Amino acid sequence: MKILVIGATGNSGGATVDALLENGNGNVRVAARDAGKAQERFGANVEVVSFDWEKPETYRTALDGVQSCVIVMPVLPDIVTPGKALLDAAAETESVQHVIKMSGTLCGPESPLPIGKEHEVLDQYLMNLDGVGWTSVRPTLFMTNMLIYQLGAIEETGAFYGAPEEDGKVKSAYVSVKDLGEVMATVALEGEKHYGQSYQLTGPTALQDSEVAALLAGHLGKPVSYVGVPNEPYTKSLEDNPYIPDFLVGNLAGAEYAKTLGLTAPVTTDVKKVLGRDAETFQEYLARIGS
Ligand SMILES: NC(=O)c1ccc[n+]([C@@H]2O[C@H](COP(=O)([O-])OP(=O)(O)OC[C@H]3O[C@@H](n4cnc5c(N)ncnc54)[C@H](OP(=O)(O)O)[C@@H]3O)[C@@H](O)[C@H]2O)c1
Repeated sequence: MKILVIGATGNSGGATVDALLENGNGNVRVAARDAGKAQERFGANVEVVSFDWEKPETYRTALDGVQSCVIVMPVLPDIVTPGKALLDAAAETESVQHVIKMSGTLCGPESPLPIGKEHEVLDQYLMNLDGVGWTSVRPTLFMTNMLIYQLGAIEETGAFYGAPEEDGKVKSAYVSVKDLGEVMATVALEGEKHYGQSYQLTGPTALQDSEVAALLAGHLGKPVSYVGVPNEPYTKSLEDNPYIPDFLVGNLAGAEYAKTLGLTAPVTTDVKKVLGRDAETFQEYLARIGS
């Protein structure tokens, strides 16, 4: 069986390919806009094809001859148009039997994130697509977010920023991206038993962001604090940041707002349901990546 991973040079797609290769599945195709970057990351162990979400003419070549397709979409101003075109192209191939699409626990018709509403449209489109089995993989917020997106703020100010903690009531069950990649790889390899399933992936416990700050302080070996900022000034600070494109503002602010609604707190056991082991803790994640 040949498995295609779209988004493999990124965080969760990369974890999926790593897990597939660790499982001994050598039959992996990676679709990437920067073929050299993909080949450099995974070596000769994977087949690399050129693919660009902005070039629909690249979709068919990526899909032809694969039985299973893992889709991780980047955050774009519009994911619905390219997402539907890709799904249509998958259904038109002779080969594709299973599509595994990643969205998120915060996705739905009433999502506070614009991309959450768009993922929901695409997930429903996939679920109604003729001729292919589907699996919806829905992670909550990633454990990696702070060290990827807020490391600059941590280094400059000794703090990272987000929703107010409201006396400890606001918590998030951050999920390990390694677990997420292993789940997507396992679902792709095991195929049919996961058709028609939606997996809501979280870590094993919900943490306040000030607790995350304490863990990051231990990991980085320097003080790190958490600063809660109410939604309106938080959104304004994102809008005023020249490095943040407009279409990202609503998604970043929406994720923080979702925390205050309690949407990121629920803990599920779906990682264990698929992998047969407990989900990685925040402490285990930090110990694994090392200093
Ligand atoms: N962060 C969270 O807490 C969280 C939680 C739940 C769900 N999500 C969802 O996670 C997804 C993002 O996943 P991620 O953070 O793992 O991704 P990521 O690290 O940002 O990687 C994005 C991937 O998409 C590729 N890409 C970007 N633009 C492209 C284009 N025009 N054509 C082809 N490939 C393109 C990137 O390629 P290059 O390497 O060439 O840039 C990279 O491989 C989003 O759908 C988001 O809604 C995120």
